[in-house]
Amino acid sequence: MAVLIHGRIGESIKRKEDGRFLRGKGNYLDDFVLPDMLHMAILRSPHAHARIKSVDTTAASAMPGVIAVVTGELMAQHKLAWMPTLSGDTQAVLATDKVRFQGQEVAAVVAETKYQAEDARDAIVVEYEILPAVISPDGAKAAGAALIRDEKEGQKDNHIYHWESGDKAKTQAAFAKAHKVVRLQTFYPRCHPAPLETCGCIADVNGATGKATIYMTSQAPHAIRTVFALVTGLPEQQIRIISPDIGGGFGNKVPVYPGYVVATAASLLIGRPVKWVEDRTENLISTGFARDFHMTGDLAVDDKGKMLALRVHLDSDNGAFFADAQPSKFKAGLFHIVTGSYDIPTAHVTADGYYTNKAPGGVAFRCSFRVTEASYLIERLVTNAAIELGIDQAEFRKKNFIKPEQFPYHSATGWVYDSGDYPKAMDVALEKLGYTELRKDVEARRKKGEVTGIGIASFTEVVGAGHGAEFDILGLRMFDSAELRIHPTGKAMLRMGTKSQGQGHETTFAQIVTEELGIPAADVAVEEGDTDTAPYGLGTYASRSTPVAGAATAMVSRKIREKARKIASHLLEAAEEDLEWEVGKFYVKGSPDRSKTIQDIAFAAYTNLPVGMEAGLEGVHYYDPPNMTYPFGTYAVVVDVDKGTGQVKVRRMVAVDDCGVRINPMIVEGQIHGGLTEGFGIAFMELITFDSEGNCIGSNFMDYLLPTAWETPKFELGETVTPSPHHPLGAKGVGESATVGSPAAYVNAVIDALSPYGITNIDMPIGPDKVWAALRSKGVTE
Ligand code: CDP
Repeated sequence: MAVLIHGRIGESIKRKEDGRFLRGKGNYLDDFVLPDMLHMAILRSPHAHARIKSVDTTAASAMPGVIAVVTGELMAQHKLAWMPTLSGDTQAVLATDKVRFQGQEVAAVVAETKYQAEDARDAIVVEYEILPAVISPDGAKAAGAALIRDEKEGQKDNHIYHWESGDKAKTQAAFAKAHKVVRLQTFYPRCHPAPLETCGCIADVNGATGKATIYMTSQAPHAIRTVFALVTGLPEQQIRIISPDIGGGFGNKVPVYPGYVVATAASLLIGRPVKWVEDRTENLISTGFARDFHMTGDLAVDDKGKMLALRVHLDSDNGAFFADAQPSKFKAGLFHIVTGSYDIPTAHVTADGYYTNKAPGGVAFRCSFRVTEASYLIERLVTNAAIELGIDQAEFRKKNFIKPEQFPYHSATGWVYDSGDYPKAMDVALEKLGYTELRKDVEARRKKGEVTGIGIASFTEVVGAGHGAEFDILGLRMFDSAELRIHPTGKAMLRMGTKSQGQGHETTFAQIVTEELGIPAADVAVEEGDTDTAPYGLGTYASRSTPVAGAATAMVSRKIREKARKIASHLLEAAEEDLEWEVGKFYVKGSPDRSKTIQDIAFAAYTNLPVGMEAGLEGVHYYDPPNMTYPFGTYAVVVDVDKGTGQVKVRRMVAVDDCGVRINPMIVEGQIHGGLTEGFGIAFMELITFDSEGNCIGSNFMDYLLPTAWETPKFELGETVTPSPHHPLGAKGVGESATVGSPAAYVNAVIDALSPYGITNIDMPIGPDKVWAALRSKGVTE
């Protein structure tokens, strides 16, 4: 009889890591206190664009507890005033010539306590000559615009890159034949991942051994180690990055920030550990923002409502340094997935990036490198087209979906979608919503003067970068890794190159080992984030952990199972081909009682081996995925709008996701709940904006509004399962799906509600003020 093994794939076991988190016993960066540790505070620019005339540190240096005041000039003496960005540009570590955004790092104080460091920081006197600020791509390209990157040789304007994808001529020809062209001009505003825990590090450079141990809130510790080796010239084996428990990353903790470099340099020079932890405002104004894409999309449609072609142009606002954390080859990230779930025969995408006087970043905020912007544009455009054509939103989508039999599907911009069944996800969502009845209800309510609407978004994502030959960051191929050791007692240690920031890796990756080897999940310890012990990996962001490191875990387990088979054959005195595997044990074909469990085999691997076999039961696997995975889903939202105040209330939110095989369904649902909440925040509340002088508005949680349980709507979840054909477990990533797919669904619902008044677009965040103004502009008042 098969033994029940706890924690296999598909089982919603509770998260192993929650024992310490729920007891307040997590080990976050700020919990670490090293002997003799100093504290660092950073002085930031109050101006968006200004020339530095002088930096006077005399008073600061004389203040109690101050050990050192670090300026750009001092960093320059050590050739560390500038550093490379993940997009191959350069970024100032501490400003020497000019400041280029409000909040830019100008100097740092290292002192015995945090308070002494902050007090002394405020005593540094900087004389600035204020320059005109550039706050948008339009401003960046205007004649006579201030040149932001005047230190870059050959840089004559504020343009960073031009990038194209698709077939221009074919797309033009298709547009010439179109029955109708629908245009949407929209702005995906700058927003911020705003994790609960801000960024920080403790740099501990040991003067005796020369070893630099850096505790860091990093989603990608190995890549950071390599970048640090290249930037500082320290030998890589002498650098140890430890990413402890991380309180949310969402892309914010991928880049290298100046604070990390300054703290490391300070520790090296002073010979004591130096801790630097950002406060909330520093996090919001200076570290990786997200989005900031100005997009225009044209959709060509024939007289039967079939999509013919898509043309998109975007201007990207990259801030003062091009520091997007994304695969090198793609300047606008993976935006060219913009044809989404639709069988659009041809498309042409153009993108231009611009420097502005804003913080750099462009991070993949719960997003696979600009997929969120792409998904938003196509899903908004499709709803607008349906409204303009007078076709039901759901019908129009179904008419144009890529059909299940078209997979693997080659998109017009070069992607090969692995698998999908879009009509099915749509049907499940519509049924859950009771769409047909609801549509009638909407019409009835509208007759009574109510403002109400339904929004749909049927997104397709592309997650799980690499394949390594196509996807790299600064030349580092985007593979990932897993190292598995089975101890003599049958317990296991799994180490990975990824790094959980709350996604539950300690549970789900243990479950993969359970599925493949039959070791209960409780017996598998998962360790990530220490570059001295974990195998090299590119880290956790862009929902790549399950597609890449999850696959590596399955593969290393299978390698070990092959060795286990040989040991079982020795123990059972039966030929290998006469053995059958049943999760957790090998048995002799036809004699199920003659069996050896994986625990028996593990013990034998150290005690009773076949002659000539190497001892031990362990392995490592570096997995380079053959393709990305393409999760998808249909989200549907019902809203009611108050005509008097412009307030939008989300009455229903149905989310049907397909991420292939679900390893832990409860964790997947948790990921979706979180993502839908972040999508809600982006759609209705969160905004980082700038005044004409480049002052950042939205630099604290009074201005930058995050949804709490009070604002967040109730979510009704559904699922379909279309396995990925190339992933060893059939799993696709899911972590970011809901943040990618939901903003358009929320906004489409509002636009559907306002469409009877001729309102076709309101840019996010849709606050009551904007809705009220739009209604008023159409003469609707109450
Ligand atoms: O890279 P990241 O961990 O952020 O994203 P992910 O690979 O989508 O995984 C998020 C969490 O959901 C992890 O704990 C996964 O193992 C889990 N997951 C799952 O249980 N089944 C899937 N098909 C995808 C993810």
